[in-house]
This record gives sequence, structure tokens and C-alpha cells, in this order.
Amino acid sequence: MTIRILPAVGDPDAARALTTLLAGVPDAATAPPVADSAALLDALAGAAPPDATGPAAVEALPEVVLVHERIGPLPALDLIREVALRFPAVGVVLLTADAGPALYSAAMDAGARGVAGLPLGHDELAARVRAAAQWAAGVRVHLGGGREAPPGPAGTLLTVTGAKGGTGTTVTAVQLALAARQAGRRVALVDLDLQSGDIASYLDVQFRRSVVDLAGIADLSARVLADAIHDHPTGLALLLAPEEGERGEEVDDHAARQIVTALRARYDVVIADCGSQMQSANAAAVELADTALLVTTPDVVAVRAAKRQVRLWDRLRIRKAESTLTVVNRLTRHTEIQPPLIAKATGTAVAATTVPAAFKELQPCVDSGRMQDLDARSTVRAALWALAGELGLVAAASGVPRLKSGHRGRPSLTGRRRKALPAGPVPPQATPGPATPPAPAGPSAPYEEG
Ligand SMILES: Nc1ncnc2c1ncn2[C@@H]1O[C@H](COP(=O)(O)OP(=O)(O)OP(=O)(O)O)[C@@H](O)[C@H]1O
Ligand SMILES: [Mg+2]
Repeated sequence: MTIRILPAVGDPDAARALTTLLAGVPDAATAPPVADSAALLDALAGAAPPDATGPAAVEALPEVVLVHERIGPLPALDLIREVALRFPAVGVVLLTADAGPALYSAAMDAGARGVAGLPLGHDELAARVRAAAQWAAGVRVHLGGGREAPPGPAGTLLTVTGAKGGTGTTVTAVQLALAARQAGRRVALVDLDLQSGDIASYLDVQFRRSVVDLAGIADLSARVLADAIHDHPTGLALLLAPEEGERGEEVDDHAARQIVTALRARYDVVIADCGSQMQSANAAAVELADTALLVTTPDVVAVRAAKRQVRLWDRLRIRKAESTLTVVNRLTRHTEIQPPLIAKATGTAVAATTVPAAFKELQPCVDSGRMQDLDARSTVRAALWALAGELGLVAAASGVPRLKSGHRGRPSLTGRRRKALPAGPVPPQATPGPATPPAPAGPSAPYEEG
């Protein structure tokens, strides 16, 4: 049997050395190495023809993926966990210089099928590759045997972030989730506005467990997850923000990635309300998202804030402007600031669906804390449900096109840069700077900051 191998190695010299070694492994067909975690996930997601399902989709995947310990931006173990969850018929081998038992256990816990020591030796590499391929073949036989439904692709992750506070982030996240649920999708709505999340207030929920209860738990089993999730009468699975905002600090980027990955393995659609203050946890979600929405209102202050948010994401290599989709909320016909201008000012695409300003429609539901009761004739609801359609959230799982993720071709995110977003406090870049007087000329001039 030919063993198809896909190496994921950031360093070009290490990639060349590995390719040379693999050329000597019998029956191995090695694909050109991918240089970062996003490229690996994209390559695996794109391996099968778009409409292939079941065994055909699984068969298109390489048998073995080799992950170098210094891959980025996702740390190697997180990447292995993601691959193991999303592509369980792929055998992953970690390449590492640390041959200690602790790392070995951690790799196995993450879902690796083997660990090969650096510097690599031919015999060890060949043995690990063969073992992982054998395991992958066994899984495929099992899947092809028709006894069990083959694992589908992981659920879509959508993040909703506010350009600034109060732009309608939570209303947007909640209505998108309700629309997807109404369409029959399994939907998890997670509140990653950790300090001041108010999904519970909008959906009339009193539930004490929160996302904090999942931080620091290495194995997020279905049981552990279910204990922290509130099954809302609307059918949404809610993972709420902590009642005490300061406890949000307990959720770091690693925990956020684990939680989001665990949710994606169990729900068709995972929507995260990221608030407007970037911390390491919500930044990790934005980084992983299939679609990252940025909600703004059509006014100078909010659009400036949107632009600042986009630049912050770009500087910290969280996401590129062109991979971010801005949603214009509270749009009125008479404002001069229309979507094309916002697209130009932020450098992002703007959703074709805009949301009208309709305070009176929303007021009763906001006051009662029951956003689920928003009338079907509401123009805001209609717009947000249309937006759900535009985003593919209400389509059948197999028909959903994968929206471009934010990290293709991006250099690795080093630990130093990542630490620029602490678990708790707002990074200095995210706080509003001094007001800049509007520039005298040019259509987008009011949004320019010094
Ligand atoms: N399209 C709209 N028309 C009128 N009012 C709206 C619209 N969208 C949101 N609002 C109102 O704006 C207020 C803020 O909305 P929401 O809580 O969703 O914003 P947010 O960005 O999540 O705020 P926060 O920064 O507090 O998390 C709410 O009172 C909501 O009802
Ligand atoms: Mg909010």
C-alpha cells in the first residue's frame, strides 16, 4: 500500500531534510511540506472533492501527517488535537527533540499516533510512519464497513466581535444562532465576552456554570462539556460567560482553543460572541474562525474603532483585514457613511446584508431579556436571519462552502507576539486613542487616525 504523507514543517531547512529522509521510506508518497498550521488544516479540508462525503472524502486524505514541534501559529499539540478531531482517519506523528515521557503522554492525549525524535533517524521515522499508516488504514476499513457513519467535517466556527462596545454584537450573535437553529442545525452559542458577556441576559437564563468551568480541564469529554452547557428552550446550547467578570482571566488562549475545538466536534455551528475588548481567549477564537464578523455602526467613531480593531488583528497576526467580514448594524438610509465607504475605510469586505436601525422593535425584547421572542416581522430579525443565509449558516452541512479562513500563507505567530494579548487586561492598542480631528479632504478621511 502506498502511504501518503503530508509533512507540516515551518523551517525550510528542516522541511528539506525531512523530505530527503522520507524519500527513503518504502512505499511513501510525500506531498510538498506545508509551512504552517493553517495551511495544513486547509490542505486537509481541501483534500476531498467539495461534494465528496463518507468513505470517498476520507479516502482522499493522506494516511499520515507529520507535525514538527515548531509549527505555528497553532502550537503543535493544539494542531494535533484539531487534526485528530476533524480528521480522525489521519494518523498524526509529532516530530520533537523532547523525548521525555511527559511530552509523549501529552502528544498521545492530543491524539497523536506516534512521536519521532529529532534529529530524525531513517529507521525510527519509517517505523513511526508505518505504524501511523497502519492505524489510519484500520480506521478507514472500519468507516468503509458501513457500521458507523463516517465523521463529518467539524462544525463551522463563526466569531462576532464589536468594533466598540454597544454596536450590537450580542444581538447579532444571538439572532444568527437562532436562525441557524431554526434551520435545523445543531448550534452552540458561546460567550467569549468574558468580562461582560450578557448572552444570559438576552436569553432569560439563570445558569451558574460558565466557560470558566472548562478552563484547565485537559480532557473535554462530552460529559464535562454537557455539564457546563445550558440547554436553552430554543434548542441552542449555551456556554455562558462567568458571572464574576474577573474570572474571565482564567480562560487563556489555550483553553479557548480547546473549548472551541471540542464544541466544533459536536455542533454544526459554533457562534462565539467575542465582545469588543480583545483578550487572548477571544483572539484565539477569531484566529481559528471560519468566518470572523466585525460589527460596526455607521458613524465615525465606530468605523474608526473598526479600523483600529482590524489593524490590531493584523499587527498581532490574528487575522488579515481581507479575511474579516464587517457587518453594518443600525444602518439608516440617510447616513453618509454607507457600506462601500466602510469597506474602504477598514479594508475588509462588508456583508451584503445590512441591519436597519429599529430601536422600537427591539426594546420590548431587550427589556424582558427575551431576544428569542423578537417578532418574525421585525426588520432587524429579518436582516440578521438573511445575514445567516448569506453566511451559509442555514444551509445543509454538506452544502456549506467553507469560508476563507484568516491565516492562509501567514507567518508563524511567535509566543512573544501572542503574549501581547494578556488573558485579562485590554492591550494598550485596543484602547481608544485621543480623538483625532477629521481630516479636511477625501471621502474616507474622517476615519484616518494619526
Ligand atoms: N439594529 C438595531 N436597531 C436598534 N437597536 C439595536 C440594533 N442592534 C442592537 N441594538 C441595541 O443596541 C444595544 C446594544 O446591543 P448589544 O448588546 O447587542 O451590543 P453589544 O455590542 O453586544 O454591546 P456590549 O458592548 O455591551 O457587549 C441594545 O440595546 C440593542 O437592543
Ligand atoms: Mg455584548
